[in-house]
Amino acid sequence: MCGIVGYIGNRNAVPVLLQGLEKLEYRGYDSAGVAVFDEREKKICVCKKKGRVENLESALYDNPVKGRLGIGHTRWATHGVPSDINAHPHFSGSENVAVVHNGIIENYMEIKEILQSKGFEFISDTDTECVAQLVEYYYDQSGDFNDAVFKALEKVDGSYALGIICKDFPDRIIAAKKNGPLIVGLGQGENFIASDMPAILKYTRNTYILEDNEVAVITKDDVKIYNPDKEEVKKNVYVVDWSIEAAEKSGYDHFMLKEIFEQPKVVSDNLNRRFKPDGSGIQLDDIKLFREDLEKINKAYIVACGTAYYAGLVGKFLIEKLCRIPVNSDVASEFRYKDPLIDENTLVIVISQSGETADTLEAMRLAKRRGSRVLAVVNVVGSTIAREADDVIYTLAGPEIAVASTKAFSAQVVAMFLLSLHIALETDKMSLEEFDEIRREMLKLPSHINKILTQAPNIKRFMEKYIDSKNVFYIGRGLDYVVCREGSLKLKEIAYLHSEPYAAGELKHGPIALIEESTLVIGVATQQELFAKTMSNIKEVKARGAKVLMIAMQGNTETEKYADDYIYIPKTHPILTPLLANIPQQLFAYYMAVGLGNDVDKPRNLAKSVTVE
Ligand code: M6R
Repeated sequence: MCGIVGYIGNRNAVPVLLQGLEKLEYRGYDSAGVAVFDEREKKICVCKKKGRVENLESALYDNPVKGRLGIGHTRWATHGVPSDINAHPHFSGSENVAVVHNGIIENYMEIKEILQSKGFEFISDTDTECVAQLVEYYYDQSGDFNDAVFKALEKVDGSYALGIICKDFPDRIIAAKKNGPLIVGLGQGENFIASDMPAILKYTRNTYILEDNEVAVITKDDVKIYNPDKEEVKKNVYVVDWSIEAAEKSGYDHFMLKEIFEQPKVVSDNLNRRFKPDGSGIQLDDIKLFREDLEKINKAYIVACGTAYYAGLVGKFLIEKLCRIPVNSDVASEFRYKDPLIDENTLVIVISQSGETADTLEAMRLAKRRGSRVLAVVNVVGSTIAREADDVIYTLAGPEIAVASTKAFSAQVVAMFLLSLHIALETDKMSLEEFDEIRREMLKLPSHINKILTQAPNIKRFMEKYIDSKNVFYIGRGLDYVVCREGSLKLKEIAYLHSEPYAAGELKHGPIALIEESTLVIGVATQQELFAKTMSNIKEVKARGAKVLMIAMQGNTETEKYADDYIYIPKTHPILTPLLANIPQQLFAYYMAVGLGNDVDKPRNLAKSVTVE
């Protein structure tokens, strides 16, 4: 979604802001802009353009601005079409105040009407402009910038991360946050704000993570943070441990490809951290979910969005199978509004790479209000979901930049393996011998993934063969069906191809009518006990002229009789196959997107972290 960066110090703010915005491009956006205080002219200059940061750079090249205080923004349109005017920063009417904003001001129409009745004129269709105007309205009354921001925040409803500057106070940026991530980066004689770490990683790793309703007043030498009662809040410095390389492409054509190839390491990092060295169990050192806690739990509910939800479905399958605990699951946007059947005996598991997804966050808050215990599986350390959950399992995937989630999914699936094994051991549903068998197989996963990755050139060839497909079906049963759902989502989001995942047994109940000569069907059949059943569905689509690309387990040579093309995954324990079977799907979607000339890392209409409903 939108991105924010802000700078105050002794450097020229413009390159700092532009580099920051480039680092935030992965979040998805449709326009970009900066507001910089020009010391000679004693005014704030705003430059903003529809489209890429490059457009903004050219506009700044033609009309250069310079200054040591500035705020920048990448916008993902919610209110008003993508355009130069709707792009941020937004000025107040007198151009005294400039604002960048992530989130949605829900009562902006009401505020706008009140201000219009007082003579304020609005030029954009955005909700954000009302914040700039409202700050100006209060500022005109008191001449106190800080106080004007506090007063304005009392009036706005909704979600926001805000960066605000005022022409008359060029010594400060004011930042405020409610339901949207915002950090303050701490430098020497300079300070920053950012919605996401990569924007400022080049300059500092020391940060304050703002909590909801906090307001930060940031000068070049000082940061003061206040609660809504204007009392100063003391915060701990959070030191980010990512390397800069982790947020760079390191020679790969795209972040997505780099992240696909990082998966062996991500999986081994998780296993090394989570398996007890003596082989006697799992160490989920950051959660407290032991026998006595689990005795109180009579069901679980898994809630997430998109790819994270599919990782959750792997978890549902495993917790039911290995722990014999009933598990419901829902996408967060449905869960929130359905009056879910949960109580203090329910373990609610939320999964999120970013830890900021608005629906997942609100679903979690609902669960907490109902007294449920909330365990969050999160990648971004210190994110809102991680901070508010009762327990957190961090997925240790490092920064995921590509919008299409790959390594984070694998890390979430591994977290689901580990969590279900932990619960099964704690509740005596699994013997140490059974655990040891699975543990040994899990330790081979990184090398299995490496083997699959060596097949990338073959998968690229499949892309060349199937690049003209207009509809793609993914079919599988059980855990393979979950894998199909994730594979189909990936193809949609980056290749922009229509695709449908189906439980293979459901085909005959309708969808098979869509199969015609040369329709591409991707069959996933890694579950030995379901293999023959899935193959019979494959024969049905073949008989109707479909082209079949199969993903099956090494040794199931029957595959070759019916598939036009096939990819084998190394033999492993049946519960572990989703992790492996998904890798060829990631590569297939990636190569299809490249072949179709799409912007792989920043697919159209999508945002990395969906911080609005
Ligand atoms: O940050 P989250 O894991 O909460 O994000 C959830 C979904 O928005 C995300 O998985 C989305 O579906 C990805 N673009 C999929 O590749």
